[in-house]
Amino acid sequence: MTRITLPRPDDWHLHLRDGAMLTGVLPETTRHFARAIVMPNLVPPVVTGAEAAAYRARILAALPAGAGFEPLMTLYLTETTDPADVAAAAASGLVKAVKLYPAGATTNSHSGVRDFDKVRGVLEKMAEIGLPLCVHGEVVDPAVDIFDREAVFIETVLDPIRRATPGLRVVMEHITTRDGVDYARAQGDDLGATITTHHLILNRNHILVGGIKPHYYCLPVAKREHHRLALREAATSGEARFFLGTDSAPHVDPLKECACGCAGCFTATNTMQLLAHVFEEEGKLANLAAFASENGPRFYRLPVNTATLTLEKTATPASWPAKIETGAGPVTVFDPGFPVFWHAID
Ligand code: DOR
Ligand code: ZN
Repeated sequence: MTRITLPRPDDWHLHLRDGAMLTGVLPETTRHFARAIVMPNLVPPVVTGAEAAAYRARILAALPAGAGFEPLMTLYLTETTDPADVAAAAASGLVKAVKLYPAGATTNSHSGVRDFDKVRGVLEKMAEIGLPLCVHGEVVDPAVDIFDREAVFIETVLDPIRRATPGLRVVMEHITTRDGVDYARAQGDDLGATITTHHLILNRNHILVGGIKPHYYCLPVAKREHHRLALREAATSGEARFFLGTDSAPHVDPLKECACGCAGCFTATNTMQLLAHVFEEEGKLANLAAFASENGPRFYRLPVNTATLTLEKTATPASWPAKIETGAGPVTVFDPGFPVFWHAID
């Protein structure tokens, strides 16, 4: 197969930032994607319905002319989040999910949750109204090795929260381990899991062997090869619980290429071309629509897009800019390290 047409894909986990960075990176997403779940980890974070409405307005104002793109807003869960505000923001259709960052787990997560008992009321309200909780699934205990933080989180935090809150709909965001795949598969349809493009391509050797590669550093950090293979099998399986969340996370180059570099891979520009490559390698191109276009809307109880995106394989490698020049500075586009012959016809 050298040509494939999908319902227009959505990105179920995306960082758009704000201001000049937002304006610079937004066209990279709207070129191929119809909708995205927009992460709320701004500085300060997007905590209330009013803040989400204002952020949504800034995104709409930054849209390139003619872009048919819908930002799906999220709220950043804090220990003082008001359940009534969450419920009102969900009822109005503004907010599609609430994001849980364990405090200290990643970029701008210091306002996140330390004591899970303090968010019990919000989680119960969310279970009642069916609003999904998007979870950054890593423990922050310094005694836990960074490569084990996802597996330990599943056992010691995620599973207890789900048991204590029956009916809570949860998205395990950006799973990076076989443990994550296995856990997701053992649950009912109240649990979904997103997988990023870069975790289908990178293992931890790619980050560390032959010199440190700051543009391959993200959180959760890429794991051993057998975990990457489990993610590829899950993503390409067509199973309804697995769907695309790129976690495309722009940082300007000086903040990546330095002594204490930020976490994040910027994949908005070339995700669809890379996914076509990966799904073809796995012999599963026919399941790309399920992963990128169908399973996400089904979990979020939204319609599949009627517009389409066509991907075509040619003898000429696809090309994209090495960097996106934003008003905030240059952002390096994810380099898979191999040629890609799939092109997106936008
Ligand atoms: O790599 C990451 N970058 N992981 C996250 O969880 C946050 C994100 C960011 O906001 O830069
Ligand atoms: Zn993220």
